[in-house]
Amino acid sequence: MKLDQHYVDPRLVALYDGNNPGAEDTEFYLQLAADLEASCILDLGCGTGVLTRKLAAVAGRQVSGVDPAPSMLAHARQQPGAERVRWVEGNSSALGTPGADLAVMTGNVAQVFLDDAEWNGTLRHLHAALRPGGHLAFDSRRPEARAWEGWTRAATHERGDSIHGPLESWLEVVDVQPGRVHFVGHNVFLQTGENVVVDSELRFHSQREIADSLEEVGFTITDVYGDWQRGPVTSESRVMVFVAGRGG
Ligand SMILES: C[S@@+](CC[C@H](N)C(=O)[O-])C[C@H]1O[C@@H](n2cnc3c(N)ncnc32)[C@H](O)[C@@H]1O
Repeated sequence: MKLDQHYVDPRLVALYDGNNPGAEDTEFYLQLAADLEASCILDLGCGTGVLTRKLAAVAGRQVSGVDPAPSMLAHARQQPGAERVRWVEGNSSALGTPGADLAVMTGNVAQVFLDDAEWNGTLRHLHAALRPGGHLAFDSRRPEARAWEGWTRAATHERGDSIHGPLESWLEVVDVQPGRVHFVGHNVFLQTGENVVVDSELRFHSQREIADSLEEVGFTITDVYGDWQRGPVTSESRVMVFVAGRGG
């Protein structure tokens, strides 16, 4: 497993929350956890833990944030409310069998698993980590919306501030293959001129592929939403949000 430098280089980790403000998705997962009355919650690929810490702010909950990137976890551990979360460095094999009520993968974590074996193995670990009747919820960009067509220098170029001084950043797509997009992120720290180039690849699974892989490991799909307001998937949807149950 190769980790994307966005999750490794502490200078880029420090910029993550500002670049990924996510409000609607956070609200969606908080409401889902409340509706399911989930008290034991796992957040796989928790990153800097914005959602993880909000989930853990509710009294009586046990929340674990699991992520293989030490720099993301180090950042998460320094934020207010971090002491209420159990932080675990690792991938899905570190989940164990806690009999959780709810497991989540947010911020398109589902797209980091590039090959089928890794994706299916992750789903199997998540299934084993839930109690019978527990739920898994996650999001993935809808391939038909072709999000990568907006990942051009012109559309993504930004000049901002960082703790290391002014920074210019942009994305560029390198290659598009069926179900996979290879792109690079440029991050130029203007004080030194250093360009930290991040090489990334994401999987774009279809709705059918995800549904089949969930069913294959024993999940039953409860809902698939096409937006953060629990609307259906339509031809305009940019995201697919899956909620699946582990049968009794
Ligand atoms: C786009 S970030 C999402 C972070 C967070 N969930 C959010 O919503 O902001 C993707 C995260 O997936 C993590 N990741 C990468 N490979 C992983 C794997 N094999 N298993 C679990 N998480 C992984 C990265 O370290 C990173 O923190």
